[in-house]
Amino acid sequence: KAAEKDGYEHFMMKEMYEEPKVIRDTINPRIKDGELVLDNVTITEEDISKLEKIYIVACGTAYHAGVIGKYIIEKLCRIPVEVDVASEFRYRDPLVSDKNMTIIISQSGETLDTLFALRESKKRGARILSIVNVVGSSIARDSDDVLYTWAGPEIAVASTKAYNTQLTALYMVALELGLKKGTITKEEADAILGQLKQIPNDIEKILENKEDIQKFAHQHYNAKSIFFIGRGLDYALSLEGSLKLKEISYIHSEAYAGGELKHGTIALIEKGTLVVCPMTQDNLFDKMVSNIREVKARGAVVLAITQEKHAEELKKTADTVITIPDVDSLVAPISAVTPLQLFAYYMALEKGCDVDKPRNLAKSVTVE
Ligand code: G6P
Repeated sequence: KAAEKDGYEHFMMKEMYEEPKVIRDTINPRIKDGELVLDNVTITEEDISKLEKIYIVACGTAYHAGVIGKYIIEKLCRIPVEVDVASEFRYRDPLVSDKNMTIIISQSGETLDTLFALRESKKRGARILSIVNVVGSSIARDSDDVLYTWAGPEIAVASTKAYNTQLTALYMVALELGLKKGTITKEEADAILGQLKQIPNDIEKILENKEDIQKFAHQHYNAKSIFFIGRGLDYALSLEGSLKLKEISYIHSEAYAGGELKHGTIALIEKGTLVVCPMTQDNLFDKMVSNIREVKARGAVVLAITQEKHAEELKKTADTVITIPDVDSLVAPISAVTPLQLFAYYMALEKGCDVDKPRNLAKSVTVE
């Protein structure tokens, strides 16, 4: 086992260090002569023009990737997207027909609820595109089209590198659909693809600076409850940051949309409450600064994660600012999740938790 960890103390850290490589592995084979070519996505322009809605169905971390996918696909393809937790979708008599496509996301390709949601969707006539990590898995076999995430084996129960590659795959799907539907131009697609290719380098830099997060965790690991707030894509990211923390550190945590806080959760903020704010969305930056002021006025301690370009400004409001290399807001979640994964890791480590094998959790859930 020690050898398999390549000198890292835990599989989770090893797998975070693999993120740059596996994102490249997920992108590079699909670029031929500078063009995005998704060989396995056989949906035609005509099929896309008939799509009234796309469903994204998954569980856990894969579901959180789906929430990002909704924002991206709606933005780039102008098709309504509904994201569902698989265990809910399969039992709610979903309004799915041949006018829909269902995107299934699963690392293992074996999660029972997700597999059954796929079959329910297929039975009702939807086309199935799955984003799966394990080649030849049940979900891959039952799908019309499969886009593999080349994340390699993920051993730590808490998913890290698989999530980054699920996002990468979702962006590529959005580009493909947007180009075929004509809602984005080739120039726009090329620009986004260029940004995606830069992400692995950015994650390398984030990992180099991981001590800043370790230091913060060392000071705050006794927190009883932690709130994650964000807007837009940062809200989706908050859901994943909060789940990661809960899974491995057992600290109670909730994720809220920045603007929704005042409708209830702010009642729980008191002196010393830790609030984590991913802030990568330029157009929502000022709104989030207001939200930070609201929680600070009630005594919260705020950790913000943002691009370098915003750091100086944000230091005026937040208590601690962790930076990621400057990146366009649209693709920021793929690198901005890494500091959140590192935060969960160091909080769990400080608390003496079994990082790779958290209590009560299984890597792949093949029961209902
Ligand atoms: C389990 C794992 C989670 C994972 C979820 C979905 O609950 O502990 O980390 O996100 O299953 O798994 P899948 O293999 O379908 O992505």
